[in-house]
Amino acid sequence: MSENANFTTTDSGAPAGSDEHSLTVGAGGPVVLHDHHLIEQMAQFNRERIAERQPHAKGSGAFGTFETTADVSAFTCAEVFAPGAKTEMMARFSTVAGERGSPDTWRDPRGFALKFYTPAGVYDMVGNNTPVFFIKDPMKFQHFIRSQKRRADNNLRDHDMQWDFWTLSPESAHQVTWLMGDRGIPRSWRHMNGYSSHTYLWVNAEGVKHWVKYHFISDQGVETLTQDEADRLAGADGDFHVRDLFDAIAGGEHPSWTLKVQLMPFDEAADYRFNPFDLTKVWPHADYPLREVGRMTLHTNPTDNHAQIEQAAFEPNNLVPGIGLSPDRMLLGRVFAYADAHRARLGANYKQIPVNRPRNEVRSYSKDGAMRIDPVRDPVYAPNSKGGPAADYPGQPEPQWAADGEIVRAAYVAHREDDDFSQAGTLVREVMDDAQRDRLVSNVSGHLLDGVSEPVLARAFDYWRAVDPQIGERIERAVREGQG
Ligand code: HEM
Repeated sequence: MSENANFTTTDSGAPAGSDEHSLTVGAGGPVVLHDHHLIEQMAQFNRERIAERQPHAKGSGAFGTFETTADVSAFTCAEVFAPGAKTEMMARFSTVAGERGSPDTWRDPRGFALKFYTPAGVYDMVGNNTPVFFIKDPMKFQHFIRSQKRRADNNLRDHDMQWDFWTLSPESAHQVTWLMGDRGIPRSWRHMNGYSSHTYLWVNAEGVKHWVKYHFISDQGVETLTQDEADRLAGADGDFHVRDLFDAIAGGEHPSWTLKVQLMPFDEAADYRFNPFDLTKVWPHADYPLREVGRMTLHTNPTDNHAQIEQAAFEPNNLVPGIGLSPDRMLLGRVFAYADAHRARLGANYKQIPVNRPRNEVRSYSKDGAMRIDPVRDPVYAPNSKGGPAADYPGQPEPQWAADGEIVRAAYVAHREDDDFSQAGTLVREVMDDAQRDRLVSNVSGHLLDGVSEPVLARAFDYWRAVDPQIGERIERAVREGQG
């Protein structure tokens, strides 16, 4: 036996013959097939890559703690939001359209995915750094993502395709205005807010329900990059945001976000001026002010990015008692899409990978499948009279709402002030200042000048005029001048 306690082993734990030399027939002869240590290294290497996430492929994350600092027990009985509760959690931040090696500073929404290991099961909040989204029906999601990715013929990203989709989908105007404004390129992940975007349902211990939207406000402040800064960084350091997060945490600068929520009494939804479940709309703070809940702090870097971040499987269906879904049909579509993606990307037993594993005991009847690790015990069926688990959660664990009507394929029932452009117009006129509006015009016209052709271009001018007549004029003028 070696004197060296730190000797290399094979994957089965036996001492490895060498880190340097293959087994050969004489020093000058051929390599033999029974050098299992060599074969094992080559075979493992060939299998190191797993499929990347379809959207949100480029990202990284860290581990932390969420602490509930306020008393919101009147609104939810979720243990993670119980007064004073401290919950271990993790976060992954990402871009949407780029591949796993793409630059962090491309203009794009940023993913803001959180996983809380609560005593009542894993709770995932899979949001973005914008409070709204491009579309409002899951039927359009795959088309939307394809329009942002690569063409079939030259495998290039293509602004003509992006604007073709957006201008034929006027519900995108609010999110596109965000995207083309300053917040379309955050300075770092530490300097952006995170939003549930969707409306969820909270229920308290007495069964009283409220609709809720989450806002994770960066305690570092919101800071952004200009298009020029971002373009330079995309060449100089494509991993600028990954590096920033890792280095900050390693250096003891632990980023934090304050969770605030907007709460709408359950019965107010039906008559609210906008459809409160429409993912392209925000709820004005004047109608539903922000109320503080707690703070999340990221303090620990991953030690194995692949095992802990790449294999992290976020899914909006991971809910816990006290928190439910809403009739937002995008959200309902996502409840299917993510677990399906994980089964394809990571395998049927992905919830047993340590980063996805609940910290509380699992007593489900799932069994078998590739790579199952947890032993399955009899009885393997329910109901049974053999002492197996029986579902008897005290009360309704999944808050619900009532729905009735014919089964149809149709747009949402309109509320009084529903339209595609007015919130985008408010963003341009009331939230942006002159300098921000100037940058919006420059970002949009620069984007349109990069490969957008008629008739898409004409539609893009109309689209911006519908957001705001003046901004539309300015964008058209800037493009016409740019075309020479
Ligand atoms: C990732 C589907 C809308 C935020 C993903 C993935 C899929 C997906 C399949 C890859 C999952 C994986 O392989 O791990 C959908 C569908 C949507 C939708 C079908 C609409 C019907 C949204 C919306 C948001 C969002 C509205 C934000 C509010 C994210 C985030 C990730 C992601 C943050 C990355 C999670 C991570 O870091 O692993 N989405 N998505 N998605 N999506 Fe969506």
